[in-house]
Amino acid sequence: MSTPSILILPGDGIGPEVMTEVRKVIDWFGRNGLPFEVSEDLVGGAAYDAHGTPLTDATMARAQAADAVLLGAVGGPAYDDLDFGVKPERGLLRLRKEMDLFANLRPAQCFDALADFSSLKREVVAGLDIVIVRELTSGIYFGEPRGIVVEGNERVGINTQRYTESEIARVARAAFELARKRSNKVCSMEKANVMESGILWREVVTRVHAEEYPDVELSHMYADAGAMQLCRWPKQFDVIVTDNLFGDLLSDAAAMLTGSLGMLPSASLGAPMANGRPKALYEPVHGSAPDIAGQGKANPIACILSFAMALRYSFDQGAQADRLEAAVERVLADGLRTADLLGPEGGSHVSTAAMGDAIVAALDATA
Ligand code: IPM
Ligand code: MG
Repeated sequence: MSTPSILILPGDGIGPEVMTEVRKVIDWFGRNGLPFEVSEDLVGGAAYDAHGTPLTDATMARAQAADAVLLGAVGGPAYDDLDFGVKPERGLLRLRKEMDLFANLRPAQCFDALADFSSLKREVVAGLDIVIVRELTSGIYFGEPRGIVVEGNERVGINTQRYTESEIARVARAAFELARKRSNKVCSMEKANVMESGILWREVVTRVHAEEYPDVELSHMYADAGAMQLCRWPKQFDVIVTDNLFGDLLSDAAAMLTGSLGMLPSASLGAPMANGRPKALYEPVHGSAPDIAGQGKANPIACILSFAMALRYSFDQGAQADRLEAAVERVLADGLRTADLLGPEGGSHVSTAAMGDAIVAALDATA
């Protein structure tokens, strides 16, 4: 088989600096028998600055052809006043939509070394290991009609929440499949009490469960109650499946359970390609953090763990993914902390680059 290809899109803000650390990790695997063909391109504000668009057609085509795409972050205050259609975020949304990456996996795992760092009590978060499966290509992010229109003497902002049965069914299947490899439990979240799209969501998830996954334990929750339960006792969950907007909100909340948004990776997966690998884009859940960009303060772990997810889901290298995750756990246990992880319990403060180097050294120790 030919060397697998990875397209790296560092993007804006802290994206490039965390991606520099991921490249050290990719290079380490290259030196240790697992080479990748890596290329790099622009997305978001960086692409806008160079080409006047947050994603060129050429970059889109390269993303479609790559075995996996790794993205840093997009956006920043410099682009706040741009037309909506060329804002940095549109580049990311175009990638998700055109690659049809409907299943966004956002694990929230609390590393033991960080259990005291969460804003919640240790016993609430220690050992936490849940995954939010967020629908990523439909719902209110893409529904039509949308826009800002004039009605009478004022303007009206319009977005549409819209889900087809097949869109719900395919993300539900992704969640049930994942649950079977974990603790076999799915909780589906919507607002069936106030939204027709929520009523259909609940019906379809229930049908797919009964017909194809009766062995998996299924429960339903209204998304607002789900947010409350996530903070009250998150360990009651295994896999949560929810729509695009609720998933956006719930995954930020779940991130904080783990201590820092700088820790959370994600995988966005679509249908299998001709080579059997799923269409895939991996990115940290955190944003571009323009306030700390370029200062060596960013935590590269979310992006490095996103590469671990690529090893697992795109390249069938589960053992190597475990090894990389163990290396991350090792450096955290050793007390290394980027600025976002400096809490009352101290630890030794390291830069973005030093954190990347330490993870590579921990990988060396396992080789
Ligand atoms: C996320 C982000 C994106 C989203 C933005 C950057 C478009 O918040 O991936 O969670 O809203 O989906
Ligand atoms: Mg978000």
